[in-house]
Amino acid sequence: MHPPLLVPSILAGDHAHLAASAAVVGRVGLPWIHLDIMDGHFVPNLTFGPGTVAALRKTSKLFFDVHLMLDEPQRYIEPFATAGASLISIHIEPAYDHAGTLVRIRQLGCQNGIVLNPGTPAEAIEPWLGRVDLVLVMTVQPGFGGQSFRRDMLPKIAQIADWRRARGLDFRLEVDGGIDLATAAECRAAGADTFVAGTSFFGTKTPARFAAAFAKI
Ligand code: DX5
Ligand code: ZN
Repeated sequence: MHPPLLVPSILAGDHAHLAASAAVVGRVGLPWIHLDIMDGHFVPNLTFGPGTVAALRKTSKLFFDVHLMLDEPQRYIEPFATAGASLISIHIEPAYDHAGTLVRIRQLGCQNGIVLNPGTPAEAIEPWLGRVDLVLVMTVQPGFGGQSFRRDMLPKIAQIADWRRARGLDFRLEVDGGIDLATAAECRAAGADTFVAGTSFFGTKTPARFAAAFAKI
């Protein structure tokens, strides 16, 4: 299992100064940042697109973990890869060519990830486990930061971690939504290794201390 990795979500950062929010992440020594892309259809909210990601890329060397919450993610893989995404994750729920899109992400030089909403059973992504770099289990219904952690997702995390162990795979197992030190520890015990944190990271006045505490969960 990978050591615990805290991945701040810029959704909770300062959207008038996104580069400054990304810089805080680098300053406390964290290698990854999570970028939430919403289309107003798959989720009832909008964020930003590849132009913003490309502008951020000019100011940051961080690993860009790009979470696409889109009805038609296959249309936007190339623009986000060109913009400087390091990893692109796509949801299993909409109907499109999942297999082809996961392959395309890697062909464009990015890592790939598959994401499940709280209402989607682990079995839905089981066939893809050998073909992804990351599985993201949503621990809230996606669309907004600041929601409460869904403890009922813990068995799903444990199930996916079991499959990973049984098959000798090493994809990252990421959780996203309502993550703080306490809920991350619960997810860690269930087998997660990669922890997206928006409100809890950008809400603290002492991000370096928060990151240090996270490394020990
Ligand atoms: C929710 C997004 C999350 C969000 C998490 O739709 O996918 O990445 O930033 O925010 P918190 O950590 O505040 O729950
Ligand atoms: Zn996200």
